[in-house]
Amino acid sequence: MGLPATIVRPGLYKEKTDTFYRDVISGLRSVPKRLNSKYFYDAKGDKIFQEIMNCREYYPTRCEMEIFSKRAAELGDALIAGGDAFDLIELGAGDATKSSHLLKYLLEQKADFTYLPIDISGNVIEMLNKTLPDRLPGLKINGLNGEYFDMLKVAADISNRRKVVLFLGSNIGNMTLEDAQAFCKKLREHLSEGDMVLMGFDLKKNPRTVLAAYNDSEGITKRFNLNLLERINRELNADFHLSKFDHYPVYDPETGACKSYLISLEDQEVTINNRERIHFRKDEYIYMEISQKFTLLQTEQIADNAGFKAVDCFFDSKKWFLDAIWIAE
Ligand code: AVI
Repeated sequence: MGLPATIVRPGLYKEKTDTFYRDVISGLRSVPKRLNSKYFYDAKGDKIFQEIMNCREYYPTRCEMEIFSKRAAELGDALIAGGDAFDLIELGAGDATKSSHLLKYLLEQKADFTYLPIDISGNVIEMLNKTLPDRLPGLKINGLNGEYFDMLKVAADISNRRKVVLFLGSNIGNMTLEDAQAFCKKLREHLSEGDMVLMGFDLKKNPRTVLAAYNDSEGITKRFNLNLLERINRELNADFHLSKFDHYPVYDPETGACKSYLISLEDQEVTINNRERIHFRKDEYIYMEISQKFTLLQTEQIADNAGFKAVDCFFDSKKWFLDAIWIAE
């Protein structure tokens, strides 16, 4: 998801940097202070996230991988049963490891579909366009680089075939429940009756299991959070001392909200771009990220309120993760 300065057009780079700058300043001037977790994913953040996905405590990736590797046939059959030829759109495709199982099965079934991965990173799309057809002979792929909803409009212009949208990895959990609901409503507005969605949700479970996933013993998640301060130093010419901040994750089993904060360990001032001075009181926090956990009922309510019918549920063997299939009504 990172945007290395070397490969994007100069004008575009400036625009991205300006938006990043504005978001960082307004977030750190807010009370309480906050930063947007979408900015975790620069090239270094992408690598740290890979480490998180491989670490012992972080279960969601393994759970969803189990669903995709063991039940690709059932998932694929459910999508094929929705109608004729289709465009399979993946929001935030990354390296498409999980979806590859599904793509392979659909190809074996000779299903008539084109894979349209959407990602904000031009690098990701270039890599998928180049490598996936070798890994999956016969795959028709048309990667789209841009924001999700802009690219969904492009996808609708490209063809009027039915759409099947994948939104995996519980990325929906990085929004508050209210924002997740609004996102699904907007998604429905970009689709037509009969179109399908396959959405991954991390479910509520033992609170210690959830908390450990965001508080791993090797400190990878701590580095992931601190990397955003480092990115601000690097890209926006700031002087955060990373050792003066601590990572503090909490999980509330009642609301299902797992939140990460960075705590200022002393009274300090940080300068950004030689002109913005941000003061931190000792013990003051920056709200970094929400990773919302859901009940099955909540996911069905979200579907219902957004204009979808929840038609199929795929759980891993521990029932810790859900891939739900919805149909637009
Ligand atoms: C990408 N997203 C679903 C991850 C999560 O579980 O919220 C990001 C993450 N943050 C810390 N660890 C993983």
